[in-house]
Amino acid sequence: MISPQTIEQIKNRIDIIDVVGEYVKLKKRGANYLGLCPFHNEKTPSFTVSPAKELYKCFGCGKSGNTITFLMEHDKLSYVEALKWLATRYNIEIEETETSPEQKQQQLTADSLYIINNAAQKFFTEQLYQSEEGRNIARSYLQERGFRDPIIQKFQLGYNPSAKNILATHLIQQQFNKELLVKSGLVVIRNENELADNYRNRIIFPIHNNTGKVIGFGARVIGSADKAPKYINTPENEIYIKSKVLYGSYFARLAIDKADECLLVEGYTDVISLHQAGIENVVASGGTSLTVDQLRTIKKYTNNLTIIYDGDAAGIKAALRGLDMALEESLNVKLVLIPDKEDPDSYVNKVGAVVFNQFIAQNKKDFILFQLEVMLKEAGNDVGQKSNIVNQIAETLSKINKAEDFTRQQDYIKQCASLLKIDEAGLTNLVNKFKREKLAKEEKKLPFEDVKGTPHQPFADTSETSLDLLQQDEVHEKAVIRVLLEYGLKAWDEKKTMAEYIFEELEQFHFDNSDWEHIFSMYKTAFEYGEEPTTKSFLYHTDEKIRNLVITATLFPFELSQKWDEKIEGLNITNRDTAQEDVRMTINYFKLKKIKKMFEENQKDLETATSFEEQMKFIEIHRQLKEAERELTNRLGTVILK
Ligand code: GTP
Ligand code: MN
Repeated sequence: MISPQTIEQIKNRIDIIDVVGEYVKLKKRGANYLGLCPFHNEKTPSFTVSPAKELYKCFGCGKSGNTITFLMEHDKLSYVEALKWLATRYNIEIEETETSPEQKQQQLTADSLYIINNAAQKFFTEQLYQSEEGRNIARSYLQERGFRDPIIQKFQLGYNPSAKNILATHLIQQQFNKELLVKSGLVVIRNENELADNYRNRIIFPIHNNTGKVIGFGARVIGSADKAPKYINTPENEIYIKSKVLYGSYFARLAIDKADECLLVEGYTDVISLHQAGIENVVASGGTSLTVDQLRTIKKYTNNLTIIYDGDAAGIKAALRGLDMALEESLNVKLVLIPDKEDPDSYVNKVGAVVFNQFIAQNKKDFILFQLEVMLKEAGNDVGQKSNIVNQIAETLSKINKAEDFTRQQDYIKQCASLLKIDEAGLTNLVNKFKREKLAKEEKKLPFEDVKGTPHQPFADTSETSLDLLQQDEVHEKAVIRVLLEYGLKAWDEKKTMAEYIFEELEQFHFDNSDWEHIFSMYKTAFEYGEEPTTKSFLYHTDEKIRNLVITATLFPFELSQKWDEKIEGLNITNRDTAQEDVRMTINYFKLKKIKKMFEENQKDLETATSFEEQMKFIEIHRQLKEAERELTNRLGTVILK
């Protein structure tokens, strides 16, 4: 663990222009810098970097963040790796924090397991090539299946002999701890205290993590499996976490990046045979359904996933199970089914790389449309089933949820509507209904938790250019957050800060949008505890949603461009140069908008009032509101908002 002091030191040294500038050619534009977005393809620059605020935002694709998230996203670094990168760059010595005894123990166990696996892998290779049994049985089996030496060596395949405990004895001799040996899954306890080899008489497929270390093994019977399971795998332990394993990812990384596509197959042998044929951008899921962690690993390298499964029903089902998840991760999913009871391994061996590649290219189907076709075929003319399909496809499409995927979703709606022979607008409505339902559910469940994978609604769309925008409460709420973050700590007068002024002024008011309310109260609490919150304290918040909200709020003046001034007389955004004026105006707009709302509510109350006393009360409120409104509009000049 990097110590908080070091992290603080790094953050203080960060120069976002310097770091981002290394990857993006930036041009100065007023207070900001502008360049071509590195996260999507564009010809005119919309990638904005603010050195003062230490953040970036692309107004084209919506990506935004701080220097650390930039490195994480752009260079596929983890948080710790990004910090280390910055530490090296700024010559900051990394101080590690004390780890807890449990963490230490876990680290020790993990380190030992790596060492044990490494020793075992060497042993298995030696057995495959040097022992008579290995050569006669295992190597000849691999050869028969067409695996040649270079590929066997690249993937470090090996052999565990059939004797009871030859590996166990070998490892015990090297002084490895028995308990750890059992944990590694390489040996099992027999007859109370005796260790026996777990993978006897099996071909060994080492499984590597992204840095090439062996984290576990798959062990295959030689020939066909009658009684025993075909494969045995390492049990879950400190370094082998099944849901995260993506077989072959270490060998495929560069090729995936280069091809901008990841091929996904089911088995170890599929990966190896395709590699041998020169197709290297391929990983295997290991026969189970895809997990979110696996999809996220893929997404680090590419957005394009092509699933290549057997064409049988089980293969299709397995593939479909991962679809919705893949869509939520914003992956473009294509599907290819291998014909005639073949799998990618046997098929590439049969037809060769050229034909295999051709086959993939020609039979790549869009996954969503494929799913729809399969379902439609099954449904035939059954109207009930067909209506189920419409619902199902709408739900699937609603999972394409990120702002940057909007056009893609539209395209799908068009194509699906045409396949279903239904009205496009109707399908759009249905898709939106599912989206709303999902959002409502999440809001109930997690009022302000990390909502990764869901859009940062309602601000995902930054192209707000219509005048309606000004009439939404939210804009005023967002603006209050902006001035609070930007000027909160400055002096309002001799007695109080801007933040205190804002708190006082808004005491009688509340926010309608729960996100802004949340940021507001976080700020207030921090402030009251004597901290000095700024944009920066939120910019590095662990919750991505908070970071993004704060970025949208801080960049607000750029979104509210000078164009507004032409449209609205007196708004005078361009010239709101003094902090105090900015705060005052923003607070007044906020209040005015709220008062308008209260006005409407009061009007309704007045209409439904049942007694004279009640009516009088509401009329008095009406009078007070009117007065407050008049005062505010006077202060704001000629601008009248509806
Ligand atoms: P070959 O038959 O040697 O070509 O292997 P394969 O990789 O093609 O196997 P298959 O298509 O039957 O299964 C795909 C993947 O599912 C395998 O690579 C394994 O990861 C996993 N798998 C298959 N059978 C078993 C099993 O019996 N136990 C476990 N744990 N995993 C299995
Ligand atoms: Mn196979």
